[in-house]
Amino acid sequence: MAKLNIELIGSPVLKQVATPIDKVDKSVRALIDDMKETMYADNGVGLAAPQIGKSLRLFVIDDGNGFEAYINPVITEKSAEMTDLSEGCLSIPGVVGIVERHCAVTVEYTNRWGKRKVKKADGLLAQAIQHENDHIDGILFIERAKTLYETKDED
Ligand code: NI
Repeated sequence: MAKLNIELIGSPVLKQVATPIDKVDKSVRALIDDMKETMYADNGVGLAAPQIGKSLRLFVIDDGNGFEAYINPVITEKSAEMTDLSEGCLSIPGVVGIVERHCAVTVEYTNRWGKRKVKKADGLLAQAIQHENDHIDGILFIERAKTLYETKDED
């Protein structure tokens, strides 16, 4: 495994609509392993492939209840109820914002073994899924934020 460089705001790959992955093979699993290592090294809750320079529909999340890779994810249901949440991003160090997110979502995705799965999520996991899914559509949280703050403790 290897820790990867994180693309920072201003990098064009962060603004692209990413491409689906057509085959989940060893190279995809190796990429997932590297993204996992990178996410943990930077204390992130999630990391999307565009953030490490790959314009692919893939993200990884560990909300504290275990690691999962989401390949070709589609959010199929969103709760009507929404909530204001504090959010940051490894690609935008030193900035946090308040973003309104759906309280719960259902996501369909392919896992690292090529199996299609359905997951219902709420809480931090639902927030992370929405944030990371935005990344693969080229959307950054600062574009959705109601309020932005600078922080001085980004690293
Ligand atoms: Ni992010």
